Parts: sequence; structure tokens; C-alpha cells
Amino acid sequence: MRASLADRIVARLATHAPRPIVRTIAARYIAGETVTDAIREARRLKGEGILATLDILGESVHRPEDAEAFERLYLEAVAALGEAGLERHVSLKPTALGSLFDRERCAAHIATIVDAVGPDGTVTIDMEWSATTDPTLALFRELRAAGHANVATVVQARLRRTLGDVAALADLRPNLRVCKGIYPEPATIAHVDPDAIRTSYLQSLETLVAAGGYAALATHDAGLIQRALTVLERHAVPRSGYEFQLLLGVKPELARQLAADGHRVRIYLPFGEGSHAYALRRLNESPHVAGYVAREVARTILRRTWRG
Ligand code: FDA
Repeated sequence: MRASLADRIVARLATHAPRPIVRTIAARYIAGETVTDAIREARRLKGEGILATLDILGESVHRPEDAEAFERLYLEAVAALGEAGLERHVSLKPTALGSLFDRERCAAHIATIVDAVGPDGTVTIDMEWSATTDPTLALFRELRAAGHANVATVVQARLRRTLGDVAALADLRPNLRVCKGIYPEPATIAHVDPDAIRTSYLQSLETLVAAGGYAALATHDAGLIQRALTVLERHAVPRSGYEFQLLLGVKPELARQLAADGHRVRIYLPFGEGSHAYALRRLNESPHVAGYVAREVARTILRRTWRG
């Protein structure tokens, strides 16, 4: 869907909007502020036959105590998932666990969380901007070498290097989330043409499944999903060999349709106190949502005004 100029302006203005307004907008994309909120949302999804991965909002911490706080909160979330009888599946960002200032400590924090989810759960290490790609892939390899089979990571089709990265990981038969990549990157290292990104996506997927890896297809692009299904069929990948992943609040009808068609579907459930920055990022990605919310807010105010 193409956003109108007005919607794009509203999305930009949201950057300066009062926090309560952004919170209203954010409600669509965020499970809440607490572990309890996240578990409630994961339970609701389970009722619809849809899985979840919990993500604690926040990134780029610069103090050891902040990285430790993230580890504690992840452990709390993992325990709560277990107690609720839900799959222990979390996604985390290395920079939230201190990768920018202490790589070893960050690796230890992640290993602790990986241990906590246990062999039946999964920790997906999210991929951040391009300067973090090498350290993140190295971390993934180290965790796998240390015997942690329950760890996954992410590749970004936008990056020109990605097909090579997937091929280089093939020996691990890795669990990889394939996404387009959300961070703006220079054309020297990234595809900018949407079709080139889609081609890179499908080639990366093909290389992954040909290697016997597990594919988490993270996209809301319905056309790309159709083409990806063709790749999966060509390689006779069983339904247990892949899943679709979508963001909370983005195209929920597509998630429901995929689940109804018998595919495994997982929703990325962000929660926590860092909701302001996350909501703004989602809005700038999809300005028509900002326009829609702005119109709803305006309508509500008008209705209240007329009712006196
Ligand atoms: P595209 O942007 O073309 O969108 C396809 C359709 O979905 C369009 O109709 C669009 O309007 C709609 N849509 C997309 N975003 C929307 C939104 N916010 N609100 C409303 N509609 C929206 N990136 C990364 O760099 N590192 C990572 O670790 C991850 N992790 C991750 C996990 C999961 C589960 C998902 C789904 C995505 C990521 N991403 C990510 C983000 C990903 O790289 C990408 O930026 C977004 O998914 C948008 O790309 P699409 O493939 O959905 O296509």
C-alpha cells in the first residue's frame, strides 16, 4: 500500500508528538510494558493457533548494569513462558546485552538465556545494522560450536553479502530468520531496488533450505510469500522445516490466513518500556498507519466535541 503525502507527514510529525499520543499508536505494535502483558498476548495468539517470540524493547546499552537488567528480564520472561505452558521462544538484540562495550560479557549473557530456554525452546539473535553483522554471525557460530542447537539468527536480504553469509553457514544447517532488513544501508553494500531485495531474499532462502536449514520467513509481503512457498515446494521442505514470522499489529489477517492454510506462524511480540522508539520506527516504515490513527483520533475528538 502506498502512503499518501499527508500520511507521510503525519508519520514524521509523530516524532514530535506527545508520548500519550504515540502510546495510543504504539498499542497496535506492542504487547504492553510488562512480562504479564506479553504472556497475555502470547496466550491470546495461541488460542488462534499462532506462536510467539518475545522481544524486550531496547538496544545499544552502554553500561554493564543495563545489560544485566536485560538478562534478568529475559530470564523472567522465559520462566513466565514455561509457567504458562507456552513455548520458550525469545528474540534479543546483542547491543541490548552489551555487545557494544564488552563482547565476552554479552556472549555470556546470551548463553545464560539460551541455557534457560532449554533444548525445546529457541533464542533468535536479531540482526542490527551492518557494522554488527560479522560479530553477530560470529556469536551465533560460537554458540553453536559450544553445543547450543537451540539458537537462531537473522540474515537481511537487503545486504549484498547475505547470500554468501548463508552459504558460509550451510555446514551448521542453521535456523535462520530471513528478512529484508530494516536498517538503511549505503548502496555500496546494500540493494536498494525492492525487486533486487526480493531476489536476494529468495536466493538466500533457497540456499538455506538446500543446506537442510530451518527457515523462518519474516515478511508481510504477500507476493514474496507466494514465491517463497514455491521455493519450499521445489525443495520438498516439510511443514516442520519452516515457519512464517510477522510483527505484532502488522497484517494480522495475513498471519491468520497462513495459519488457516496449515503453515506454522509466529508473531514477534515486543514489550517493555522502550515502546516509544519502537512505535516511531514502525510508523516511519508504514506511514499510512499513522494517517489512519490520526484520522481516528480526530474523529474521536470531533464526536466528543459534538456530544458536548
Ligand atoms: P514490505 O516493507 O514491502 O511490506 C510488505 C507489506 O506489509 C506492505 O503492504 C506494508 O505496507 C506492510 N507493512 C510492512 N511493515 C508495516 C508496518 N510497520 N505497519 C503496517 N504495515 C506494514 N529487520 C532487521 O533488520 N533485523 C531483524 O532482526 C528483523 N527481525 C524481524 C522479525 C520479524 C518477525 C519481522 C516480520 C521482521 C523483522 N525485521 C527485521 C524487519 C524486516 O527486515 C522488514 O523491515 C519488515 O518486515 C518490512 O518488510 P516486509 O518484508 O514486511 O516488506
